[in-house]
Amino acid sequence: MRYIGSKQNLLAFIERVATCHCSGARTFVDLFCGTAVVGRHFKSLNFNVTSNDLMAYAYTFARALVQNNGEPLFAGLGLNGNAPLDKAVEHLNSLSPVQGFVTSHYSPAGSDRMYLSPENAGRIDAIRMQLQVWRRTEAVTEDEFHILLAALLAAVPSVSNVSGTYGAYLKFWESRSKKRLLLQAPALMITPGTHRALNEDANVIAPALNCDILYLDPPYNRRQYASNYHLLESIAVWDYAAPLGVSGLPKRPERRSLYCTAQASEALGHIIRTSPARHILLSYNSEGIVSHEVLMEMLCKRGKVELFEEEYRRFRSDADGPTRNYKADSVVERLYLVSN
Ligand SMILES: C[S@@+](CC[C@H](N)C(=O)[O-])C[C@H]1O[C@@H](n2cnc3c(N)ncnc32)[C@H](O)[C@@H]1O
Repeated sequence: MRYIGSKQNLLAFIERVATCHCSGARTFVDLFCGTAVVGRHFKSLNFNVTSNDLMAYAYTFARALVQNNGEPLFAGLGLNGNAPLDKAVEHLNSLSPVQGFVTSHYSPAGSDRMYLSPENAGRIDAIRMQLQVWRRTEAVTEDEFHILLAALLAAVPSVSNVSGTYGAYLKFWESRSKKRLLLQAPALMITPGTHRALNEDANVIAPALNCDILYLDPPYNRRQYASNYHLLESIAVWDYAAPLGVSGLPKRPERRSLYCTAQASEALGHIIRTSPARHILLSYNSEGIVSHEVLMEMLCKRGKVELFEEEYRRFRSDADGPTRNYKADSVVERLYLVSN
């Protein structure tokens, strides 16, 4: 999935630094996990992994891809036998569209907003309602619920009429939005060890998270994830939070991140000072809110800092224009490592 700050294309770089410079490490915490790809990668390397994020959709990805460590049986749906996950996904894909929360507020079938075609919005409503019923009646386990919800959340961006994030919808129907919503079974992974997903504020849990490697990938610019991915969050939480204004962004003050504000360095400094981890591995971008000098100063107080750099093509959610003018197509992605 395209995601601001995704490390999908930097996994080999992160692995190289972690495995070559943190010898003997067995436990890995991904404190700002987003799409959960980093934690999933370290799970595949046989680490014990904890993945955490403030957003509910990110928790669902972490729950499905990291914490879940077995083949879902879907016994409660009577699907046990051959490929039950594929059958559950097939059933969800076969549901007819219904008019619900997403259709009424995020498609032209009930509002002025053009985030989704009425058909795809109706399919999302039908699938999300089905998942809610299955969970409420315990026809699916909590892990099974999150696996199917992760499949839905991963499929929505590929039919969304946006240029990358949900800050605004396009005023014409982009070809992507005319495709039919189609869920795919997530690629699950079973590895030795224990794995956890958490949905907490990083600063609240960091002081109590004992681990070998604490991986930090906080937001590095002012774009709040709660605003840019509000529709995914609404589908994940399913609380019918009132959509406001032209963009339909609901109020979710509790999801506002300090890392997207002038308090970013204070927040990061708190984690660096209080974490009991043996190694802290920090991803930060050369154009981030916190300057390289400030990061170095905070990290150096903890121990010897090593710096690794890789040039990286940036995620562009929209074109340059009067309000945004990117300095370059590529940025330097930095990994800072500080060890006790
Ligand atoms: C740069 S993204 C992480 C991307 C992730 N590594 C990936 O590859 O998908 C930053 C993440 O930090 C999360 N976040 C922001 N503030 C947070 C906080 N205080 N506690 C936990 N997560 C937070 C955001 O929701 C977002 O998913």
